[in-house]
Amino acid sequence: MKKILVTGSAGFISAYLVKRLLEDKDNLIIGLDNLNPYYDVSLKEERLRLTKNERYIFYKGDLADKSLIHKLFDEYKFDIVVNLAAQAGVRYSITNPDAYINSNIIGFYNILEACRHHPVEHLVYASSSSVYGGNKKVPFSTDDKVDNPVSLYAATKKSNELLAHAYSKLYNIPSTGLRFFTVYGPMGRPDMAYFGFTNKLIKGETIEIFNYGNCKRDFTYVDDIVEGILRVMKRPPEKKTGEDGLPLPPYKVYNIGNSNPENLLDFVQILSEELVRAKVLPEDYDFEAHKKLVPMQPGDVPVTYADVSDLERDFGYKPKTSLREGLRKFAEWYYEYYIKGEK
Ligand SMILES: NC(=O)c1ccc[n+]([C@@H]2O[C@H](COP(=O)([O-])OP(=O)(O)OC[C@H]3O[C@@H](n4cnc5c(N)ncnc54)[C@H](O)[C@@H]3O)[C@@H](O)[C@H]2O)c1
Repeated sequence: MKKILVTGSAGFISAYLVKRLLEDKDNLIIGLDNLNPYYDVSLKEERLRLTKNERYIFYKGDLADKSLIHKLFDEYKFDIVVNLAAQAGVRYSITNPDAYINSNIIGFYNILEACRHHPVEHLVYASSSSVYGGNKKVPFSTDDKVDNPVSLYAATKKSNELLAHAYSKLYNIPSTGLRFFTVYGPMGRPDMAYFGFTNKLIKGETIEIFNYGNCKRDFTYVDDIVEGILRVMKRPPEKKTGEDGLPLPPYKVYNIGNSNPENLLDFVQILSEELVRAKVLPEDYDFEAHKKLVPMQPGDVPVTYADVSDLERDFGYKPKTSLREGLRKFAEWYYEYYIKGEK
């Protein structure tokens, strides 16, 4: 039986990952999440309800609690660790920096230290497209320089990659960082644009479209991200020895994105059409009256666009779900959960 630690397991991406991992009867999943109230905790509880299983043991606890992390590693002797717990969001990092240092820096350091003292086959962790900052060259490649973060969130994610590199080199820990590009889908994060826009439109409020709509995002459907994580988890970077007789770091970083950036105004158009189709909003909804074009926000970047050729080369895989297909699934879920389900 493979023992797998998934952190942030009540979170959006982790919950989908846990569900897929449970399909393999040889997996025992240990989940950890502090169920923090950054967004509606009932969504996190719902995800836990949907993943309940006898081969899934959930702990409510904090990644920054070093003794808890070491206790879990000691007790379960994990084969694979997938660290997805983090304080996410770019804008929140401007007003709540502590949360980012606590979860993303101290928490990740605890995971690395635990992997050092309790060796694992593979440490997979979430990085982010935000590490590319305001880079102009597109598509974004993992070979590009990423030394100019424009938010604390991005700085913590780039720091994770640096820390992982040092630990891979020093202690021969196979690690793979995954730079996710705007992940969306049913049961997603209410702080993200597609979800927040929907909530606002339903209440008759006005949505703000940043940089006057001149933004492009590489939207990636959650199932595609999970498929990428599953493939990567199975194949840790090889351990090799360098000419100096010391280990070469078994260390990799990949982009996982759709590699097909969409203009924000087109995205809003598709979302509007799908919300009407799913009966979340009425057919005669006046979208134009509820849209406002506003300037760029601090911490935001004008474009994200993933070069996924490395992922394709090494894992024969590339995300494929179109934005319309993905937003259709989101809109249908939203109708079932909030409107029919009266949540
Ligand atoms: N969704 C995206 O578009 C996106 C894009 C790039 C990177 N990422 C990264 O992917 C990962 C998962 O993102 P998500 O969208 O599922 O976010 P999410 O907020 O839904 O999930 C993260 C989970 O981690 C938990 N958590 C946070 N701090 C913790 C701590 N100190 N101890 C224990 N649990 C803690 C939260 O309660 C939450 O349930 C994160 O690392 C995020 O930075 C996400």
